[in-house]
Amino acid sequence: MRKVVIITGASRGLGREIARTFGQAGWGIAVNYLNSKHDAESVAEDVTASGGDAVVIRADVGDPAQADRLINSAMTHFRRLDVLVNNAGVSRQGLFVRLDENMLDETLRTNLKGPFNTIRAASEVMARQGFGHIINVSSIVGVKGRAGHSAYAASKAALVGLTKASAIELAPHGIQVNCVLPGYMLTEMGTAAAEKTKENALADNLLKKYSIPAEVASFIYNLTYMSSASGQVFNLDSRMI
Ligand SMILES: NC(=O)c1ccc[n+]([C@@H]2O[C@H](COP(=O)([O-])OP(=O)(O)OC[C@H]3O[C@@H](n4cnc5c(N)ncnc54)[C@H](OP(=O)(O)O)[C@@H]3O)[C@@H](O)[C@H]2O)c1
Repeated sequence: MRKVVIITGASRGLGREIARTFGQAGWGIAVNYLNSKHDAESVAEDVTASGGDAVVIRADVGDPAQADRLINSAMTHFRRLDVLVNNAGVSRQGLFVRLDENMLDETLRTNLKGPFNTIRAASEVMARQGFGHIINVSSIVGVKGRAGHSAYAASKAALVGLTKASAIELAPHGIQVNCVLPGYMLTEMGTAAAEKTKENALADNLLKKYSIPAEVASFIYNLTYMSSASGQVFNLDSRMI
């Protein structure tokens, strides 16, 4: 029987690479998206062509009802759930003093409430099974902070806290919860941020290298085969924390 992963925000960027990586290993994949329908469909075609199975599910993870529907639809299609990757995220930039409250709400809604909603729904299923991995995609910005990113930093710091607290609560049910800090990747989100901070994008990066989404995806894939790690935060670039 195929193993199954739900990947939020799998239409573009890192999420697309994660879907491709699991797809090449023959997994069943729920490809979640919000706006990019055609991109999500093309990810699903790639997955199927490489030997995996895919279902495309539109859901706004920030809405609890839609997050429930995402998990339920994936279960209806695949009948099991091994891994949930909370990858969907938004980045709204602006100096703290000028930050619009709506920008803060919007950022927290996707980056924090999204994983909160999906973890609640998926952990019910995983607890019944007695196993499961949940991997949250946070950011080093949530640990170190960055000028112009206060809403994003707050949301990603909170996601680290959510990872740790849910790891403690879910461990007795056989569910592992971990968090990755992928590093600076030149996806749509990363390119926009790098353009704004051109001179210093790699300043505190020892190797002066951007992270490669396919390598990050491969790390996430391998983490799902680790039986000993939970409640951990893995930093995947050369900035020290
Ligand atoms: N890029 C970086 O340098 C970097 C660094 C550290 C951490 N991260 C984190 O890595 C993750 C992926 O980033 P990325 O660079 O691949 O971003 P991206 O290219 O902007 O892609 C974001 C993805 O999230 C989806 N999404 C946004 N809001 C959603 C919602 N409410 N419900 C469902 N899906 C939603 C988008 O779907 P649609 O297109 O369908 O709307 C898209 O697939 C994010 O959590 C980000 O914070 C990125």
